[in-house]
Amino acid sequence: MLPVTLPSLQIMFSLLHRRFFHSSSRLPKKKRIAEQRWLARQSNDPYVKASHALNFRCRSAFKLLEIDDKFRLLQPGCGVVDCGAAPGAWSQVAVHRVNSAGTESTLRRGTVVGIDLLNIPPLDGAHFLSSHDVADPATHAKLPDLLPGGRAHVLLSDMAPNASGFRELDHERLVGLCSFLLDLAEKILRPGGSLLCKYWDGALACQLQDKLCLVFGSVQSLKPNASRKDSAERYFLARNYRKPVKG
Ligand SMILES: C[S@@+](CC[C@H](N)C(=O)[O-])C[C@H]1O[C@@H](n2cnc3c(N)ncnc32)[C@H](O)[C@@H]1O
Repeated sequence: MLPVTLPSLQIMFSLLHRRFFHSSSRLPKKKRIAEQRWLARQSNDPYVKASHALNFRCRSAFKLLEIDDKFRLLQPGCGVVDCGAAPGAWSQVAVHRVNSAGTESTLRRGTVVGIDLLNIPPLDGAHFLSSHDVADPATHAKLPDLLPGGRAHVLLSDMAPNASGFRELDHERLVGLCSFLLDLAEKILRPGGSLLCKYWDGALACQLQDKLCLVFGSVQSLKPNASRKDSAERYFLARNYRKPVKG
């Protein structure tokens, strides 16, 4: 019989843990099929392959690259706040484009601040506020000290709440999160600045667009090619911010 040493107990424990908590064969049939479909879709997705090849943390990098190639939001020297930044692919794009790691010595050096409820692995050129809620005024209060002049040129949001599986409910929750971005914009966005935010299309999208139109000179809805065709995901790009008129 094998001696039961501490390392062998640890190995046994980890095998049992994997068997009971990670084995897909223990998932209900419906979930197992969904997991297999997801794996098949991932392995056939050209953006997933390209993100591995280019060392992006996830495929969503290509959505921002595509939008930024067209609209040139991220210029060297810009201050950027990336809401819902984990795992950090949009921040990788922003760091590169605004030169916040100082890689291009002849160009102005920008600033990137990322916020997420989850942990965001460190990235050279970015300052991350992990375990922070974008809806929390305490998070907003930390931002001015992290941005040159206390203000950002661009506010990005790829935030998404955990999907409940009920399309309308998820849509409403995400529109609710986007509304917090308007409070945040009032505190930190420079006049003339831009906001790019994800939403899931649905009944409240027009209301959100109307709210954005009150404080931005132009608002348009975008569906980048990298966004999956079968998803309700879209982005509002709002440009030329002006301070809200109170009263
Ligand atoms: C689709 S992921 C973002 C991916 C990211 N753009 C990237 O390229 O790596 C959505 C993120 O939004 C975050 N999120 C959702 N609600 C949030 C909130 N209230 N405050 C901060 N982050 C939030 C989630 O934790 C999740 O990490």
